[in-house]
Amino acid sequence: MKPIQVGLLGIGTVGSGTFEVLLRNQEEIKRRAGRGIEIAMVADLDTERARQVVGNHAQVVSDAKAVIANPDIDIVIELIGGYGIAKQLVMAAIEAGKHVVTANKALLAVHGTEIFAAAHRRGVMICFEAAVAGGIPIIKALREGLTANRIEWIAGIINGTTNFILSEMRDKGLPFAEVLQQAQSLGYAEADPTFDIEGVDAAHKATIMSAIAYGIPVQFDKAYIEGISKLQAQDIRYAEQLGYRIKLLGIAKRVNAKGSREGIELRVHPCLVPNKRLIANVEGAMNAVMIQADAVGTTLYYGKGAGSEPTASAVIADLVDVTRLMTADPLNRVPHLAFQPDSMSDLPILSMDEVRTSYYLRLVVADETGVLAKIAGILAQADISIDAVLQRPGSESKQETDLIILTHACLELHMNEAMASIQALSSVLAPIVRIRKEELS
Ligand code: HSE
Repeated sequence: MKPIQVGLLGIGTVGSGTFEVLLRNQEEIKRRAGRGIEIAMVADLDTERARQVVGNHAQVVSDAKAVIANPDIDIVIELIGGYGIAKQLVMAAIEAGKHVVTANKALLAVHGTEIFAAAHRRGVMICFEAAVAGGIPIIKALREGLTANRIEWIAGIINGTTNFILSEMRDKGLPFAEVLQQAQSLGYAEADPTFDIEGVDAAHKATIMSAIAYGIPVQFDKAYIEGISKLQAQDIRYAEQLGYRIKLLGIAKRVNAKGSREGIELRVHPCLVPNKRLIANVEGAMNAVMIQADAVGTTLYYGKGAGSEPTASAVIADLVDVTRLMTADPLNRVPHLAFQPDSMSDLPILSMDEVRTSYYLRLVVADETGVLAKIAGILAQADISIDAVLQRPGSESKQETDLIILTHACLELHMNEAMASIQALSSVLAPIVRIRKEELS
């Protein structure tokens, strides 16, 4: 049988990896897919570089529309990124009846509803294993492997750049800005690393996972996002002394406890995690996703979340899936978001005020009688129970001290109110540092 003809839009790091792995492992991939898979056409503005990668194995063009217009192309791989031209091209490919494989988490997190609806109408597949956690087959695990389960929560280290920065800050006691520079010179962080360090990239990925886990639409605009740029080395140190590591987590959690509104928490923020958890020991640029589900219990998925061949591994897995399923009745394929399109849930994304979690607070206070009692009183009044307290000499002078408080779980609304009252005390000398804490048990 003639090999499936694939068109590749954008041949940068991941595109080159895809081309090379597909060529290197072609025999094995063909035995799995039941048919050869060939990148027949590549579109890239830098045609010279593209030709260097593909040699005479594929036709190189500068106009991506020429790939979509080619009737011999069955699958289009979109590796351009962003929401602009990439969206136009993905929509055009769908309209042209092509199956689409993409690594574009931003596009799917923001415009997924429109894109999946168009694909459903047209009977084509949109595959996006590479969009979340790079080489880790987390979409496959959530959508198929765990299909028997009610997913309770997902907590993931899903941005390698920030995990690298946090690991270095902890290992070497360095400040954020210095490690960021190091990450940039090592090529981990982009020249403009905003999406990574401010948690946006992780929120794109968490949004996609929340949709698949709970059968809700992708709702990036409702995700709570807080990055690591304000994190201080001393909090990493104090957390360590209390038996925790700080990780940037993407969390999606089903809430249906008595007294709470039923819904989904969708949040990305730095988080204290007990250092005995496996996920707390995921270091450097590695990714890991922990899933708690009712039947299977806890599962953990670990691997490279970025890079040329790890991401290519996910792209090619999608190509094989499409090759196997393209002749199947569209209604019998695995639904894009795991649940049948007419069985989606309208569970709301909860506001942060409704989130229940525990906290790490660091206060710089005047070292005088009764300060701790006043703070404990305010917390008690807000129904917030203290779990642990640590007092350490402050850095600035002998008259002040660092007070670190770990709390039990409480409503974020109550914590906000308590923090405002504590901040107003004259003996609290600096803005309170608040970092959320998850036991992940
Ligand atoms: N910039 C991402 C990261 C990689 O640092 O994990 C691609 O999602």
